[in-house]
Amino acid sequence: MAPTVTPTNATLGAVVTGLALGRMDEPTWKAVEQAFLDHAVLIFPGQHLTEAEQVAFAGRFGEIELLAPSAEQKAVPISNVKPDGTIMGADEHRYKTLRGNEGWHTDSSYMPLAAKASCLSAQVVPSAGGETEWADMRAAYDALDEATRRRIAGLSAHHSLYHSQAKIGHVVETGAGYGYHAKGAPLRPLVKVHPVTGRPALFIGRHAYAIPGLDEVESERLLSDLVDFACRPPRIYAHSWQPGDVVIWDNRCVLHRARPYDYGEARVMRHTRVAGDPATELAPTDRDDRARAYEPSASNR
Ligand SMILES: [Fe+2]
Repeated sequence: MAPTVTPTNATLGAVVTGLALGRMDEPTWKAVEQAFLDHAVLIFPGQHLTEAEQVAFAGRFGEIELLAPSAEQKAVPISNVKPDGTIMGADEHRYKTLRGNEGWHTDSSYMPLAAKASCLSAQVVPSAGGETEWADMRAAYDALDEATRRRIAGLSAHHSLYHSQAKIGHVVETGAGYGYHAKGAPLRPLVKVHPVTGRPALFIGRHAYAIPGLDEVESERLLSDLVDFACRPPRIYAHSWQPGDVVIWDNRCVLHRARPYDYGEARVMRHTRVAGDPATELAPTDRDDRARAYEPSASNR
């Protein structure tokens, strides 16, 4: 039986039921893949995937982007719980990275090869808050006035995790974790044409800064005005997690953010990221002044 795809009331997102992600036959996978292209965010309640099943599911969308130092580790925890079971303090590096996720962004735009998709599953959820929200950059582009479309048509922005974390007071050394590299800041057009659907979408978010041709103030204002405009109803959808839920989204046309919660409570998510296609998600880089060095590379590793 074909899965049931129920669109949300927002311009993006659909809830998909009536299937087991861990054992899909080919027609079911094809239906999921089409729903992903149509809705950009798919929510699968109550799947309770094992780590291996989640990696296999994400792997259907493309090559897994390796986020941990070990090439064997294809899923990473996004969690405020430390390996010893205690909860992170507010002064810890990882905690500040988690808080950074509360700003609208797209994954790995700060790497030479930006991500295609991201998959999250909920393991432990707090009693309130901790939702994930997504914003539809296809619908946002469609809603822009003609003058703004003309203004941004030829513009690009640099993307840097050093930059976005510095804005929340987190200054990070090169080599301190994934994203804090010396490969330079990728330069990406503000309008991205989706490689499969052909739909134009805004490609912005908290990692974007320094638009060539604009001064720093103008650049910052344009980027923040675009995010403010883009990330509002009917273009946003929030998911309130239950353990076992799985979501996958299309980083090529969607921004996302985590919502706050009581940080004294545990929140444990499992994350698998799907690498972009070098033909369409690889960008040239320029020196990132916040990095220790500049050693250009077309590889994220
Ligand atoms: Fe993210």
